[in-house]
Amino acid sequence: MTRVVVTRVVPDAALAELAPLGDLWVSGEDRALAPAELHDAVRGADAVVTMLHDRVDDAFLDAAGPGLRVVANVAVGYDNVDVEACRRRGVVVTNTPGVLVDATADLAFALLLGVTRRVREGDALLRDRTPWSWSMSFMLGTGLQGRRLGVVGYGRIGQAVARRALAFGMSVAYTARHEVTGPAAPPAVRLPLGELLATSGVVSLHCPLTPATRHLLDRDALRSMRRDAFLVNTSRGPVVDEAALAEALREGWIAGAGLDVFEHEPAVHPGLLDAPNVLLTPHLGSATHETREAMAVLAARNVSDVLGGRPARTPVT
Ligand code: GLV
Ligand code: GLV
Repeated sequence: MTRVVVTRVVPDAALAELAPLGDLWVSGEDRALAPAELHDAVRGADAVVTMLHDRVDDAFLDAAGPGLRVVANVAVGYDNVDVEACRRRGVVVTNTPGVLVDATADLAFALLLGVTRRVREGDALLRDRTPWSWSMSFMLGTGLQGRRLGVVGYGRIGQAVARRALAFGMSVAYTARHEVTGPAAPPAVRLPLGELLATSGVVSLHCPLTPATRHLLDRDALRSMRRDAFLVNTSRGPVVDEAALAEALREGWIAGAGLDVFEHEPAVHPGLLDAPNVLLTPHLGSATHETREAMAVLAARNVSDVLGGRPARTPVT
């Protein structure tokens, strides 16, 4: 009997696609399974639908055994998966590109607008019942128009953020390994990272987490940014050296930050929690009803593809 494992509660629409494929086991716990629980759960599986907090490594693959054919990660990022170890064992890995592009770009823009216009501080002031009155100089923020958005990683999400920025009257620069051209590409200049950091009013991160991008924004990179610049991160926490960012915010190397992801999730560096000029959300980039359902259904269809002997629709290559 084909065994399909889902490591965490997912929307019913995805379960409906998975149920006919075989014996379906879904975690009854709506929490990340501890490694030992995860390894118990995947024993003998032909297919596993994983979440971004599940570590898919040799220990996971050993636990699953030689029958495993596909790991369908419900995320566009797959830094939690040892893709090379899967490849060696002939296990197909899939992710969920495309379906979460707009949701993630919207959240990046919410953070960008929220931090530049001090939305969190204003809300906190009112809730604290602090006396206030309108004045010419009260709680001034920073306008976006005419400023440069620097996009690090110009995939679909980066380009979707660029489109929003253009609509807000910003100009766009990006850094990426290849020039991005074509009629659908938003008008933008490609720059080396150093020049992008030194000239952008807002820097937004949209690269995957890889050994090359871990701590891409380290102390030196943060120091090279403009003092009036903002940093937005909706990619992966470890792309930024969080301790260095806390220092940058405290010392005024940059003006502020909007962060959806953290280096040691779910922990957040205390220096960020204490900084007034930072807006924080708990990894909500793809967190809309519509998007989460689309992600889970796409993962289920990838499982169905592989178990049915067809190529996966969105394999990780
Ligand atoms: C979420 O962070 C994702 O990679 O989909
Ligand atoms: C997301 O799907 C991306 O490719 O950036």
